[in-house]
Amino acid sequence: MVQLSLPQHSKVKPGRTVKAAGEGAKKKKTFKIYRWDPEKDENPREDRYEIDLEKCGPMVLDALIHIKNDVDSTLTFRRSCREGICGSCAMNIDGKNTLACLKPISEISGDAKISPLPHMPVVKDLVPDQTHIVAQYQSIEPWMKTESPAPTRERLQSAEDADLLNGTDGRGPAACILCFCCSTSCPSYWWNGDRFMGPAILMQSYRWVIDSRDEATGERLDQLEDPFRLYRCHTIMNCTNACPKGLNPAKAIAELKKLMVARQA
Ligand code: FES
Repeated sequence: MVQLSLPQHSKVKPGRTVKAAGEGAKKKKTFKIYRWDPEKDENPREDRYEIDLEKCGPMVLDALIHIKNDVDSTLTFRRSCREGICGSCAMNIDGKNTLACLKPISEISGDAKISPLPHMPVVKDLVPDQTHIVAQYQSIEPWMKTESPAPTRERLQSAEDADLLNGTDGRGPAACILCFCCSTSCPSYWWNGDRFMGPAILMQSYRWVIDSRDEATGERLDQLEDPFRLYRCHTIMNCTNACPKGLNPAKAIAELKKLMVARQA
């Protein structure tokens, strides 16, 4: 009989409760946060921090920074720009992958549950290990490849060609900030992330395939001619639903599939 059991230390256990709001606080909210320390031989736990929302800004990242600065300095998470540009504060908030700096606390009813991006190894607390997905990004050679001699000025493109990259609404594939909210919300990537490139990387691949200045289109499409790298996308659409920037990785993947068919015709 098949026996299924969770790997050691995979079960999240109840953690401690820290009441940091103070007696007189009028706007209390509890944040339930996934904690795991690689230096301790312990299961991950969920710590509960009750804080006063009048002591922090309006976004989830503001609450995390308040907890780290004033309540528990051991809480570990990534962040940099605080305005949805760098992608480093991606995490799962209230059941959905998103950017903590763009997620208003007011949109979360009840306690706020926060955990790292799913299906990635955890470095510590809310910090996922991106080694594998960054290697996949490197593998598509995300830079302009040309054979023709360099012009005296930069390589120009028409406004229409630039729109393909940027989108007329600023939501084209070049607007991706590589936060990986999409790839880590994709069931196909969960199960086949070792060989399937996933939506974030495929949208970047598409970004270079359609760049009018790039001269390696055939080579780039050849690289995707494989049962797993591209074709493990089953149009589940979680990627587009998850993107905190409102981009459409599912459409980019569909366009790549169309290009693959067109070149075989
Ligand atoms: S801190 Fe840069 S995207 Fe959130």
